[in-house]
Amino acid sequence: MPTALVTGANRGLGLEFARQYLADGWDVIACCRNPDDAGDLRALDNDRLTILAVDVARSDQIRALAETLKDRPIDVLINNAGVSGPRMTEEGYGEPEAWLDALRVNLISPFELTQALLDNVRSGDQKKIVTITSKMGSMADNTDGGRVIYRSSKAGLNAVMKSLSIDLAKEGIIVLILHPGWVLTDMGGPDAWIGVEESISGMRAIIEHATPEHAGRFLAYDGAEIPW
Ligand SMILES: NC(=O)c1ccc[n+]([C@@H]2O[C@H](COP(=O)([O-])OP(=O)(O)OC[C@H]3O[C@@H](n4cnc5c(N)ncnc54)[C@H](OP(=O)(O)O)[C@@H]3O)[C@@H](O)[C@H]2O)c1
Repeated sequence: MPTALVTGANRGLGLEFARQYLADGWDVIACCRNPDDAGDLRALDNDRLTILAVDVARSDQIRALAETLKDRPIDVLINNAGVSGPRMTEEGYGEPEAWLDALRVNLISPFELTQALLDNVRSGDQKKIVTITSKMGSMADNTDGGRVIYRSSKAGLNAVMKSLSIDLAKEGIIVLILHPGWVLTDMGGPDAWIGVEESISGMRAIIEHATPEHAGRFLAYDGAEIPW
């Protein structure tokens, strides 16, 4: 069966990716910062589930992950871990360091992790790299303003993954840039429009049927094209 690797797999969308792929018989490598605290993930309790500790903001942990997974093929690599970053308050957005922290997790780490595991993807049958971005990174869709930290991190992420989609197409690797919808998770909050099951089912269908024509496009979980 194929293998999927998911970052930020202990809760929210990442946990649901792990749950659904396991239910379909896949092998799942679920990465999270603190496996000991990842009760919901461990409760999936499956011998096809491997849980590995990875803080994606730590280069040493990304290198250690690549070493651990040396020679193990990965069919679908999913960059899911993300943070909202600080929001505007009466004091503004806070110190620039908090912005840099969000850029590290949302923008730089997906690139770093992808580079570190590229040989694993090359040796997989499906050769797909998926990055969970957000419509908040769209310029065309930005009619409300605000959220400058989150928006800029996802806009930058889109630029990075667009380039990777072109660079890796030559090798037959499909890079997908997916918006999950506004989803009921800790990040999405209680007013969100859809549940994790609908979001992940939709994105898994896109991943399953993806062809080189889908690479480098900005697509929502329901297949809708999002303007950059
Ligand atoms: N929910 C939405 O409406 C929505 C909409 C658009 C895009 N997204 C994107 O979808 C992705 C998943 O979001 P979500 O809604 O599932 O959010 P969530 O419920 O807040 O979960 C975020 C996940 O990312 C992990 N994470 C954060 N920093 C990390 C780090 N340094 N290293 C490893 N893992 C880290 C968290 O782990 P810890 O538990 O250790 O913090 C958690 O597993 C994110 O990229 C988000 O930007 C979500």
